[in-house]
Amino acid sequence: MERRILFASAMIFLLAIAPVYAQYYSKTVTPRPRREKMTRLHFFLHDILSGQNPSAVMIARPNITGSAISFGTLFAIDDPLTVGPQPTSKTIGNAQGMYVSSSRDPAMFTAVMYADFAFTSGRFNGSSFSLFSRNPSSPPVRELAIVGGRGKFRMATGFALIRNSFLNFTTGDTIVEFNVTLYHY
Ligand SMILES: *[C@@H]1O[C@H](CO)[C@@H](O)[C@H](O)[C@H]1NC(C)=O
Ligand SMILES: *[C@@H]1O[C@H](CO)[C@@H](O)[C@H](O)[C@H]1NC(C)=O
Ligand SMILES: *[C@@H]1O[C@H](CO)[C@@H](O)[C@H](O)[C@H]1NC(C)=O
Ligand SMILES: *[C@@H]1O[C@H](CO)[C@@H](O)[C@H](O)[C@H]1NC(C)=O
Repeated sequence: MERRILFASAMIFLLAIAPVYAQYYSKTVTPRPRREKMTRLHFFLHDILSGQNPSAVMIARPNITGSAISFGTLFAIDDPLTVGPQPTSKTIGNAQGMYVSSSRDPAMFTAVMYADFAFTSGRFNGSSFSLFSRNPSSPPVRELAIVGGRGKFRMATGFALIRNSFLNFTTGDTIVEFNVTLYHY
């Protein structure tokens, strides 16, 4: 009996304090100025559509006749990032996300890429940056925007200059060289 009362009063107590935790909270302060750092990264991304274990897979396409990469086709990626251009080169991270074929002009293939580039070794193990940009098929060197990051790259902004180091037009397999410049704290 006593125990039941105790339990009941405990429940009432919990119910009474629960709304405190659910209270809306907001506080604005002026942060102290922080010193910005700049980091440059160089690596290769392997976007492999062929074979038994592809790193890029088509997940949706419009119901229209056209090529395999026509406007509206969406791919999911988990692309390895390596030190060198060879597929056997040491893996240092992976880019996970999506890209969508975004140009209505079939002569001007463009992919808009939404991906999180995470590192699994070295100084930036566990950190990642977020890329959100269009990637046209020309010119040879393209610039992509970097809009954020996690871990050591928290609050990062920056850009990537990229160039195809290998492209198989039959399979769509691509190896891309990345020169990344990141501004972060
Ligand atoms: C694709 O489009 C064709 C022609 O409009 C239509 O007959 C067919 O049902 C569509 N298929 C799907 C899966 O929507
Ligand atoms: C990277 O970090 C993970 C998780 O903290 C750890 O398990 C792994 O050993 C680290 N790898 C390297 C190469 O430092
Ligand atoms: C990346 O930087 C290296 C060294 O400066 C340079 O040789 C290479 O051409 C650059 N690649 C791209 C795609 O900007
Ligand atoms: C491109 O892929 C096709 C099909 O796997 C293969 O036959 C061809 O040799 C490849 N070309 C290059 C340049 O690797």
